[in-house]
Amino acid sequence: MSRLLRSLLRVALASSLGLAAPVAMSQSAGPDGGLSLPLRGPTPVADPAPAPRIQPIRNTAARETRNYPEQPPVIPHTIEGYQIDLNGNKCLSCHARSRIRESQAPMISITHFMDREGQFLATVSPRRFFCTECHVSQTDAKPPVANSFIDIDSLITHLKAGGSAK
Ligand code: HEC
Ligand code: HEC
Repeated sequence: MSRLLRSLLRVALASSLGLAAPVAMSQSAGPDGGLSLPLRGPTPVADPAPAPRIQPIRNTAARETRNYPEQPPVIPHTIEGYQIDLNGNKCLSCHARSRIRESQAPMISITHFMDREGQFLATVSPRRFFCTECHVSQTDAKPPVANSFIDIDSLITHLKAGGSAK
């Protein structure tokens, strides 16, 4: 393999790992929904703050609701030790088309077979190979800031009842 390809792959791996790392923060929201303390805690800016504790991964058999149709579903099970690299992809050992009878896992959807021109390939598209770029497992960490996200169905019900869009 060319050196360029290898370094490209390394970058892809590093960014997928970086994005997928579950962020664990122990900061709580203040009474007005704002922060009672900065996210890094009371440590002065010039000092290194203690690393946040790694939170246990939520491990269930129940698929989670998606917040909008295009959302990559979150991973409901633990993925500890699941390797995704040049030599293999542990996720596909259950989620590949040919494995779902045995695993009873949902198959990767048809979009995962499409290349960037929208052509369907016979196997998973290289741009969907690094699953954890998009799919992440969950922790029960407290959200560091308040979140006022409203699901579209709730918004439609609200508007139908004469509420404002704001
Ligand atoms: C041992 C088999 C197995 C492996 C390996 C596995 N999964 Fe799963 N996965 C399942 C099963 C079964 C479900 C259905 C829910 C459940 O039973 O946990 C599931 C559910 C999911 C879902 C939720 C789908 C939805 O529609 O809500 C996602 C996303 C997912 N897995 C991604 C992954 C990724 C990414 C990896 C690799 C890091 C992976 N899985 C590895 C078996 C597996
Ligand atoms: C570029 C982002 C991206 C990557 C990479 C990716 N997915 Fe997905 N995945 C999505 C999105 C978005 C959806 C929901 C829409 C759809 O089905 O395309 C989804 C849906 C799914 C579903 C639910 C399918 C269903 O019909 O309910 C499973 C299971 C899944 N992905 C597993 C995987 C696995 C395993 C990998 C790695 C081999 C992977 N995904 C790689 C974005 C991604």
